[in-house]
Amino acid sequence: MKDPKRYLITSALPYANGPLHLGHIAGAYLPADIYVRYLKLKGKDVVYICGSDEHGVPITLRARKEGVTPQDVVDKYHGMIKSAFDEFGIAFDIYHRTSDPVHHHTASEFFKTMHNKDEFIEKEEEQFFDEQEQQFLADRYIVGTCPKCGFEEAYGDQCEKCGTSLSPKELINPKSKLSGNVPILKTTKHWYLDLERYQGEWLEKWIDSHKSDWKSNVYGQCKSWLKAGLQPRAVTRDLDWGVPVPVKDADGKVLYVWFDAPIGYISATKAWAKEKGKNWKDYWQSEDSRLIHFIGKDNIVFHCLIFPSMLKAHGDYILPYNVPANEFLNLEGDKLSTSRNWAVWIHEYLQDFPDKQDVLRYTICANSPEQKDNDFTWKDFQTRNNSELVAIFGNFVNRTLVLTHKYYDGKVPERGDLNDFDKKTLDEIIVIKGNLEKSIENFRFREAVKIAMDLARLGNKFLADTEPWKLIKTDEDRVKTIMNISIQITAALSIIMEPFLPFTTEKLRSLLNIEKLDWELAGKYDLILAGHSINKASLLFDKIEDEEIEKQVQKLLDSKKANEMENHKAEPAKDNCTYDEFMKMDIRVGTILEAEQVPKTDKLLKLKIDTGIDQRTVVSGIAVDHKPEDIIGKQVSVLVNLEPRKIRGIESQGMILMAKDASGKLNFVIPDVKTNDGSGIK
Ligand code: 2FM
Ligand code: ZN
Repeated sequence: MKDPKRYLITSALPYANGPLHLGHIAGAYLPADIYVRYLKLKGKDVVYICGSDEHGVPITLRARKEGVTPQDVVDKYHGMIKSAFDEFGIAFDIYHRTSDPVHHHTASEFFKTMHNKDEFIEKEEEQFFDEQEQQFLADRYIVGTCPKCGFEEAYGDQCEKCGTSLSPKELINPKSKLSGNVPILKTTKHWYLDLERYQGEWLEKWIDSHKSDWKSNVYGQCKSWLKAGLQPRAVTRDLDWGVPVPVKDADGKVLYVWFDAPIGYISATKAWAKEKGKNWKDYWQSEDSRLIHFIGKDNIVFHCLIFPSMLKAHGDYILPYNVPANEFLNLEGDKLSTSRNWAVWIHEYLQDFPDKQDVLRYTICANSPEQKDNDFTWKDFQTRNNSELVAIFGNFVNRTLVLTHKYYDGKVPERGDLNDFDKKTLDEIIVIKGNLEKSIENFRFREAVKIAMDLARLGNKFLADTEPWKLIKTDEDRVKTIMNISIQITAALSIIMEPFLPFTTEKLRSLLNIEKLDWELAGKYDLILAGHSINKASLLFDKIEDEEIEKQVQKLLDSKKANEMENHKAEPAKDNCTYDEFMKMDIRVGTILEAEQVPKTDKLLKLKIDTGIDQRTVVSGIAVDHKPEDIIGKQVSVLVNLEPRKIRGIESQGMILMAKDASGKLNFVIPDVKTNDGSGIK
């Protein structure tokens, strides 16, 4: 395939209704940023587009909940998201927004063109309507039970539990999210994209033509939609927040957020081109241009089937060349979730690790969920930093800079004749560069970052094999050659690592006292000439200690717990018991005298309790939450007339009463002041 003249790279527009987390970065932003930085180093004409997706029901719902306007919501999160991207080094050429007038105009015109070409099916049909709120209930304004998995809070457009796409009428027991009332059905008119016709005419053939060049997860998902048969899709809604439908008889209607959002890529390009004195049409309307969408897997249908259908139906636009969607990144073995607060928020990470953007970039890339879901753990983050960035990359650069200062006062020494090992080492840089190109160009970023690290490994091996610190006593000339080569490797690293670790390579360039170098220069023998002065060494990476990691894990557990507590629903009451039945139970205050773990169990403690009546043994399943040494002397409530029973060979003579909280933790049920052992609990 011939190289294009221009690249138009997009990352999914994030909804401006919450901050960014790790999963966003892993899905659509870091891979695109790496790809774009690589293309720019290669001197390609590339524009990298993104912006905030500021329409849609989640935004209006949040505004309603917070008692502010939708514009207030998007202003707040647009600013927050934009700065998080900036600080994290996701280097868009423009970060636009869909509430901007340029976007409203562009989306309006796009719709009008399709309308004038008679591309839409116009249909009147019955939709759910909230009589109290006088509002049609599109998408997330309606909730009900998912017909697939039985989840009771599924939305009108999707079940968040099982991921199924839904339409409001599929929900069982639908109710309005606004008033909680059962909706009525009312007739309304909407405009539909004729996906069924496109499938037959060209869409399926076009998808098939990408069988071998698109990622299998992307191609597979498209095929499964096509197999089920595409249906006409409404691209308008009865709402008051969004781009107004620009035709007759459309009062109170706006474009569906998934119709206007991808057009946001076009409006952002227009705004960028205007600012840079470029022609946006060169990027969107010329076959010389290559359009690539980076997204997460939940956006595949929109970018591979619906947006291409819109572009084709409009008629003036190119179609995407590739859509390298990623799967999902999980966190510590559990699905990332905004509502459960199970996430690493980027703005918080930047506060906790202000100069460690690259460590997270590196860890995410090394675990990139390219073919299947993958997991991020803080332990792995620490290991990637300490055992790879510090021990391999940082170590090689540091040794090279320190020795160059020690032996030559920081001036790069002249090189003598190269032996076979030297040549082999330098030639290996070219091989690494070539492999890296293949991986990046095929969107295999985790493989790519590993290959890039091989260059630092090569440098370390070169130093370890040549041992300049020993040779300096016997062969000064040879050491000059060794150090010159090591400097060339560090310079190559400053190029090759740039897409992955842009903050580090900037620091490395300043240590080497060089400007940014082009990609093609990596592997050249004389990237830095003899006599050039480098700056004093300073560490590229610092070790991350266990305590920092433990703090992060604890933060996650705390927020999960807080969230569970907040959303806890008490279980319904059990069937009634009689007063006499209750009075049969003899519950006393007691004190724990001894406690020890029951061997070969995780949960059981053997307790010796003073019940006031006697001292007895009780086996209790509280070991996960309580250490034996912490509970000795503690008062407890004991059911003393429970029939004794053997647990793990130990006779348990009663039961202590515990309250299980929302997170499953068992807490002691005790009197609020110290009370005599043996006192009855009634
Ligand atoms: O899933 C999302 O977060 C959407 N806001 C992505 C939109 S991508 C594009 F089409 F604008
Ligand atoms: Zn479901």
